Amino acid sequence: MKISIIGGTGGMGEGFALRWVVNHDIIVGSRDAEKAIRSAEQYMNTAVSSYGNSMKGTIKGADYISSARDSDILILSIPYESIKLTCDSISNNIRNECIIVSPIVPMERNDAGFTYIPFEKSMKSAAHILAENLPGKKVVSAFHTISEVKLKNINENLDSDTFVCGDDQDAITKLNQLIGEIKGLRPLYLGSLSISYQAEVLTPMLLNASKKNKIKHPGIKLT
Ligand SMILES: NC(=O)c1ccc[n+]([C@@H]2O[C@H](COP(=O)([O-])OP(=O)(O)OC[C@H]3O[C@@H](n4cnc5c(N)ncnc54)[C@H](OP(=O)(O)O)[C@@H]3O)[C@@H](O)[C@H]2O)c1
Repeated sequence: MKISIIGGTGGMGEGFALRWVVNHDIIVGSRDAEKAIRSAEQYMNTAVSSYGNSMKGTIKGADYISSARDSDILILSIPYESIKLTCDSISNNIRNECIIVSPIVPMERNDAGFTYIPFEKSMKSAAHILAENLPGKKVVSAFHTISEVKLKNINENLDSDTFVCGDDQDAITKLNQLIGEIKGLRPLYLGSLSISYQAEVLTPMLLNASKKNKIKHPGIKLT
């Protein structure tokens, strides 16, 4: 599969690229094509030295608009605030069959700790805004409670669950398969994209618990 990661120069993007290059071709997308190419080269070096000959895919860089073109899976690994602008720029470049994945968490920090922006400011969930701005496309959400530090460490077994929300069964099945390729990560279907906020809100909760109890990079696992 061809997987494009817009915002692939960030921490989560690096983790996705390093985990999925084992089996897939990855395009790192950025607002700055040169930055994307530099990041892709660096990730490729890390991947080659870790996986050696067992790696089937490659990692390349491109500007984010062209990175969206022809992709089977498009991860939007960008800040909440940039969803609309990014969608406006790429909507004509996305194939109808493309699966768009949102790990986006609308979160900020105030005196009380980390908070979920939609509850604080009567705004919409990240997945909701994404779906509104990419009408007719297959949007799913996942990875909200996965720490970038653990994701980037290719040798680490995540030993965690991630909640998946979406309305297209084919998209959910394909994303579940990709999630299953990440060592120790189990997809758990939560429900329709309209309840993605239930997964998104877990991230500020985890970070507050992490700070107060000095637990590094916590995750979630249902037992
Ligand atoms: N970090 C975590 O542990 C974690 C965990 C779960 C979920 N998430 C969510 O996953 C997403 C990515 O996380 P991250 O920590 O990797 O994010 P990040 O480092 O803050 O940003 C990722 C990339 O987004 C692009 N970007 C930054 N500002 C932008 C803007 N105003 N408009 C368009 N693009 C912009 C940048 O790429 P270019 O400059 O190259 O374009 C940047 O490298 C976020 O929505 C976050 O809430 C993060």
